[in-house]
Amino acid sequence: MAPSLLKAISAVFCAITLVLADNPIDPAFSYGSTKVRGVNIGGWLVLEPWITPSLFDNTDDARIVDEYTFGQYQDENKARATLTNHWDTWITQADFIAIKAAGLNHVRIPIGYWAFDVSGGEPFIQGQIPYLKKAVTWAKHCGLKVLIDLHGAPGSQNGFDNSGQKMSYPQWQTKQSNLERTSAVLRILVQMFEDDTDTVTSIEPLNEPAGFYGDDILRPTKQYYYDSYGAIRYPYGTPKEGNVVAIYHDAFQPTSYWRDFMPSPQWQGVAMDTHIYQIFSNSEVERTEEQHLQVACSRGPDLSSFHLPLIVGEWTPAMTDCAVYLNGRGVGSRYNGTYPDSPGVGSCQGLTGKASTFSPSYKTFLRKSWEAQTITFEKGAGWIQWTWKAESADDWSYQAGLENGWIPRNPEDRKYPDICSSY
Ligand SMILES: *[C@@H]1O[C@H](CO)[C@@H](O)[C@H](O)[C@H]1NC(C)=O
Repeated sequence: MAPSLLKAISAVFCAITLVLADNPIDPAFSYGSTKVRGVNIGGWLVLEPWITPSLFDNTDDARIVDEYTFGQYQDENKARATLTNHWDTWITQADFIAIKAAGLNHVRIPIGYWAFDVSGGEPFIQGQIPYLKKAVTWAKHCGLKVLIDLHGAPGSQNGFDNSGQKMSYPQWQTKQSNLERTSAVLRILVQMFEDDTDTVTSIEPLNEPAGFYGDDILRPTKQYYYDSYGAIRYPYGTPKEGNVVAIYHDAFQPTSYWRDFMPSPQWQGVAMDTHIYQIFSNSEVERTEEQHLQVACSRGPDLSSFHLPLIVGEWTPAMTDCAVYLNGRGVGSRYNGTYPDSPGVGSCQGLTGKASTFSPSYKTFLRKSWEAQTITFEKGAGWIQWTWKAESADDWSYQAGLENGWIPRNPEDRKYPDICSSY
């Protein structure tokens, strides 16, 4: 080929690439300018003992502590029947209608890798995907946006029961094949919803990698995050960018750690997720109600000054770890001193379980906790409460909060609009 022709062709190609690159992306939800207000669909497509203790208690086998052992230590047909019934009933279209009616704009839906791939011989029961698709249809019909969150990766990225497999130290990072399987699952997930980007406006490639263990986890996490950007942001295998926003969990690191992470304009369609709980250490459960509110309010400046939209993708009005099995099936709570080496602040009676056992002053505190947090988290890009419903932990349940008045039916309707000015 004549050099001049080559030059001409490459000039045209470059021009096309430039035009494509200059095309601003157009996500169906403007993260960063519109506040995210949402709720997690917890304990549905990923089991958690504390959200549905009955599913675990009914097995009569104390070794069943997560979804992995749920498939491992009981008859497969029985496990499948229980799970199918759970998927059919725990969340239905009526829940999505109620979520929309509560003035929320987002649902975050956790899903585990095992819904897509059990090629490692894992004993997980599959069958979640049709429900995920159904949920996206429900959201589309009522105008909710969906953040799909890969909540568990092969080998477990954090060792928590909610990653599918509870263990003392995560194993995800120990094998290249685990990382490759995670990337492959992510690509399937992205492609599954590539025609639904009006509804599935964001995807979170990994929930809560255990960055508190240091570089052993952080290094592979960052590598996987950069790989995920390609999968989520360039779904067509061409230089054309998609409209789905990649939302990255902060791996429990402070915003300062992510100071240089994927800045615009080189990177587009990126947001960050942080989870704010005040209940998973002795010093936190020992805080007074006033201290809990004060700490919640103190997060505002940090949330508002990050270079990416920063969403609080998990949090709760609950300020104790009293919910049964919250720390794991058969594990006690720090608050009442039944967890190893815990202080025992007081009795859990009337602080979790059914709202009918809650005193008026406790319900007032939950309302203040809800308002202090939502007000503060809207200094950032918004919030997604954990979780929509729980069998017997109304302190965590958005649905119970609505029914019992500590969560307003319109999230802008605040009783304590100045709560954070007093701290
Ligand atoms: C402590 O709290 C846990 C979780 O709510 C509960 O299961 C347990 O019965 C409580 N134990 C005592 C001794 O109060």
